[in-house]
Amino acid sequence: MQLSIKDHHGLVAEALVARVRDAIQSKPNAVIGVATGRTPMEAYRLLALERESLDLSRARFVMLDEYLGLASTSPDSFQSVLRRQVLKPLGLRDEQLIVMASDTKDVLTETLRFERKLAKCGGVDLQILGVGRNGHIGFNEPGSRFDSLTRRVSLTYMTRSDNAPTLIQESTVPVEAMTQGIATILRARSIVVIATGEAKAPIIARALNEPASADLPISALRAHAACELIVDRDAVLERGHAQRRELREE
Ligand code: GLP
Repeated sequence: MQLSIKDHHGLVAEALVARVRDAIQSKPNAVIGVATGRTPMEAYRLLALERESLDLSRARFVMLDEYLGLASTSPDSFQSVLRRQVLKPLGLRDEQLIVMASDTKDVLTETLRFERKLAKCGGVDLQILGVGRNGHIGFNEPGSRFDSLTRRVSLTYMTRSDNAPTLIQESTVPVEAMTQGIATILRARSIVVIATGEAKAPIIARALNEPASADLPISALRAHAACELIVDRDAVLERGHAQRRELREE
């Protein structure tokens, strides 16, 4: 996992946009895996500013994960978030997003359909990932097997409380979700993980220093040949370290 440290969140977003631009320019029908969460939203906004100069007409975008038990049309389903924050600003057609349906009645069939759809479109060229404070990637919570495929999962209390402030309409974060599995994510030809802010510093320190294990899902990415971790300075300075440094500098 190659580490890049940028001065601030805006530069992390710019670096991510550059990766997406390169992917599309070198392969106009590239398949881009798109994460939700707060971290990539600035990059999606910056990407939309380039829509006139970037031909995205043949690109496809693939969901990483989705809540279960919400109407697909709920503004809080990840499908709605991606349509609102990525597809619409980029002027893309609805069918350019490969989805998992949050309101499916048959989760197993939906996850198998999603895996088949991914295989049929030739796999993901560039997967964008964030990371949860407990090290989750997608919704692969600690304990997820590295050989896991797209499946139904239960969300941890930490993940549900971290995501609660992002809700627009729903009163609670669903207790279950679907997620690309860790093995599914690792099949992407390249991966960019972004993390910003001091709340992510402890997990980034663990991701860089702890041995790989199922307790730390992000550590699975170390086995990937083309994975870049782009962080801002706050995400690599633990609060205690930052305070100690400030004290020394006074
Ligand atoms: C969410 C999503 C992840 C996301 C992560 C971090 O639960 N399922 O795909 O990367 O948590 O979110 P944020 O960027 O808001 O910190």
